[in-house]
Amino acid sequence: MTAIEARPEPVQHVEGWSPASWQERTALQQPTYRDADALAATQAELSRQPPLVTSWEIFELKRQLAEAQEGKRFLLQGGDCAESFADCESSIISNRLKVLLQMSVVLVYGLRLPVIRVGRFAGQYAKPRSADNETIDGISLPVYRGDLVNEPEFTAAAREPDPRRMIKGHARSAMTMNFVRALIDGGFADLHRPEYWDLDWMRHSPRASEYQQMVAAIGEGVRFMETLSGTPIHNLNRVDFFTSHEALLLPYEECLTRQVPRHWGWFNLSTHFPWIGARTAGLEDAHVEYMRGIRNPVAIKIGPAVGGDALMRLIDRLNPHDEAGRLSLIHRMGRGKIESALPPLLDRAKREGRRVLWVADPMHGNTESTANGTKTRRFENILGELELAFDLHAAAGTRLGGVHLELTGENVTECMGGARDLNEADLARAYHTRVDPRLNYEQSLELAMLIVRKRGAASRV
Ligand code: PEP
Ligand code: CO
Repeated sequence: MTAIEARPEPVQHVEGWSPASWQERTALQQPTYRDADALAATQAELSRQPPLVTSWEIFELKRQLAEAQEGKRFLLQGGDCAESFADCESSIISNRLKVLLQMSVVLVYGLRLPVIRVGRFAGQYAKPRSADNETIDGISLPVYRGDLVNEPEFTAAAREPDPRRMIKGHARSAMTMNFVRALIDGGFADLHRPEYWDLDWMRHSPRASEYQQMVAAIGEGVRFMETLSGTPIHNLNRVDFFTSHEALLLPYEECLTRQVPRHWGWFNLSTHFPWIGARTAGLEDAHVEYMRGIRNPVAIKIGPAVGGDALMRLIDRLNPHDEAGRLSLIHRMGRGKIESALPPLLDRAKREGRRVLWVADPMHGNTESTANGTKTRRFENILGELELAFDLHAAAGTRLGGVHLELTGENVTECMGGARDLNEADLARAYHTRVDPRLNYEQSLELAMLIVRKRGAASRV
């Protein structure tokens, strides 16, 4: 038990809120379930099923996020844009975990800060879309909203929202969590040693010698710590791993919203760290209503159109008591917009003295389509937005406390650029994502090294 848990909590409550109060608001991006009885039966079943995380893990993450707000930790949040049920498979899960852990080792040694590791997985199954329907050759069908809702194939049967998929999603999330926890508890220690990493790609980069020096320094650091402690660093520094997903499908989230003994209030026990997407961030709408009442740490995506007043109202609504660790703001502006859109928000939040963790998502403002309609992102734009984010925070006297990335441990070709300089023609080779393009293993590791390079440089200024 942590110290936080041992202290008796004064009972509080959130005025006018219940796990179902979102239903009185406008809920965007929800499917239309045609069979109301099937939905009700599914929700009754889901509400009895065990939770996926515990309240003490949630408190621990909140404590760590509070430290990140003070500059004592750095958040690494990453994973698929959309998980699929088919990808709930051992190698995909372990490769994704591997790249996240390796990135975190790079960040720990490079930034000299503990890293909070949060996966975008074990529940990242529901997606916001730009339209409710998709029309091909005159046939119009409901859009694919993620595996928690329907299937991607363009047939009426596949696109029909099926509430039973929530039961499947819950089960797959549990399997993913179980496997991740087992890997973390057991055999992943070697991942701390760069000599076991796949670093072949570095040879293709003009920065190869710089990367090699960094990797050598990390290796030295790990060995030094192990010699000092006489144990593998894995045991020395038992890794915590947390999960997150966009809390989009509210009938699902409601069923996993539970009370626990000895604590007041309600917890979303489907994930440690739910977030509100940019498309469902309306102050009076259902997603903000739902999230204001749960006790988890929560995040909200902030796009370039959000103004200072709107931001302050969201902060007030989601964290009225200015609780430490409660609220993270994930800005996702785009490389072309961040310089004009971000500074006024940083100034405003700073001026009003609000406690938030600023996190950069350099993915979602940098999506583009190639001439043949393939969605992609350029590594240089992702890196460029991230570098600007560090600079803009430094100039504003605020702190960039984390990054939010879409990545996979597989060798996909979805984003262009990086050390191997993937181009448009390469995209067709291994383009597997169902929604947004992800950084592959090599691009992810390279980005972690470039963050260290940037942060190292920033702290010397
Ligand atoms: C996402 O994170 O996949 C997403 C849809 O992002 P945003 O809400 O920032 O557009
Ligand atoms: Co995405």
